[in-house]
Amino acid sequence: MFDVTLASETDFEGWRTAARRLRMAGIAPDVVDWRVGVASRSLFAEPLPQPTLGAAFSASRAFLDLAGDVILHRSGRRLDLLYRLLWRMKDEPRLIEIASDPDVRAAALMRKSVREAIHKMHAFVRFRRLEGEDEETFVAWFEPAHRVAFAAADWFVRRMTNLKFSILTPEVGVHWNGTALVSSVGLNRSHAPPEDELENYWRTYYASIFNPARLNPAVMTQHMAQKYWRNLPEADVIPQLIRQARGRTDMMVQADPTPPTRRAIRIAARQPNAAGSDVGDIPQTLAQVAAGVKHCRRCHLWRDATQGVPGEGPARATLMLVGEQPGDREDLAGRPFIGPAGALLNSALAQAGAPREDFYVTNAVKHFKHELRGKRRLHRAPNAGEIQACRWWLDNERRLVRPKVIVALGATAASAILGRTVSVLKARGKNEILADGAIAVVTVHPSYLLRIPDAATKAAAYDDFVRDLRTAYALAKAV
Ligand code: URA
Repeated sequence: MFDVTLASETDFEGWRTAARRLRMAGIAPDVVDWRVGVASRSLFAEPLPQPTLGAAFSASRAFLDLAGDVILHRSGRRLDLLYRLLWRMKDEPRLIEIASDPDVRAAALMRKSVREAIHKMHAFVRFRRLEGEDEETFVAWFEPAHRVAFAAADWFVRRMTNLKFSILTPEVGVHWNGTALVSSVGLNRSHAPPEDELENYWRTYYASIFNPARLNPAVMTQHMAQKYWRNLPEADVIPQLIRQARGRTDMMVQADPTPPTRRAIRIAARQPNAAGSDVGDIPQTLAQVAAGVKHCRRCHLWRDATQGVPGEGPARATLMLVGEQPGDREDLAGRPFIGPAGALLNSALAQAGAPREDFYVTNAVKHFKHELRGKRRLHRAPNAGEIQACRWWLDNERRLVRPKVIVALGATAASAILGRTVSVLKARGKNEILADGAIAVVTVHPSYLLRIPDAATKAAAYDDFVRDLRTAYALAKAV
């Protein structure tokens, strides 16, 4: 019998090296005992015989990819299974393409569960901000179904590149320090920080996206297995929401529907069908818009963004501010204009005597389009197709809020509002009346002001911007 001891449960390199040597030495799977133990122990308890003649081989990329996933499964059979597959591939090089083979099928099922575990981790990890840290630092506790903590972490790095975070699991801690992803030993739940306001945020968010008319506890628990509930702040509200669902559904059924405009129906008919926003499934409230935006799949931008960012502000605001798309900070927080451009916008609004609280603030495109440059996520302008796909949400926000004046910040917003490609310079000062009677005030985007290098030019441009905001506010009061 040959004992092979790997350094850890997920020591793929160790498995690969050992499996290669075993196979080259002609050692059959039934005489190999795979173990996981202390790293300092030798890989092989017994010396291996010399490789047999002509034993050189190479495993296909497809098999190595499969093995890289399968090793993350918790099954104690996975190491044997993988070596058996590798061994059999000597005589059956295309073995892993035979889906009906019991070994191939077992590996495929393990891979499926591992991928599901990664997906669940992306969906259910909830970070809490650590108090008293100089840099923003977040910690989450999670108990993954398989040993996927490290494999799932890249996804969080892409979304939280500029922050520091740790994900603690019972078997391993994964830590991003802004530069590198490192691991530590597993911890227990008591190391996770106490509840803070982030948890309340999650509860409110979950309650707001919960649609009682769609309540199906069986499906709900299938997607959000109860074993994950204990680490989810929003889980506290689920039983209450289920209890209230019937009453809330009745109220929704009895309430007078807000008829969609003909334009909204026409636009809906043109849009590709998309999860959470079926054709004809026209949102009747801003909460439904917000829920739809969060899960929107109308274009591909959701893939690289943390979340869709809906508008916010009074449901019956007479003024609407439309930006281009969320930036890095907005993408993480899920709220529009809270980063540097938002700070400049706030100060200009204050100077114009136009309180931000009077505006419904939103964006033409609801997901953050960006590219990775090192660890920075750099803004990329949305294209015409992405603006068009997202107009479904902007038009619904306009239909529900019914603002008298819409301020378009920059060319993207102006194009989305006016329905044609426009240059800010040409449209500025025209105050066009739109089909629904609202007045469009086109002005520059605050990010444009942030980029002007010359101080005097910047100050003059800022004054013009304040003037535009003041005009918009006065118009809303006058009409
Ligand atoms: N820029 C925008 O256009 N919108 C935001 O929400 C933030 C920055």
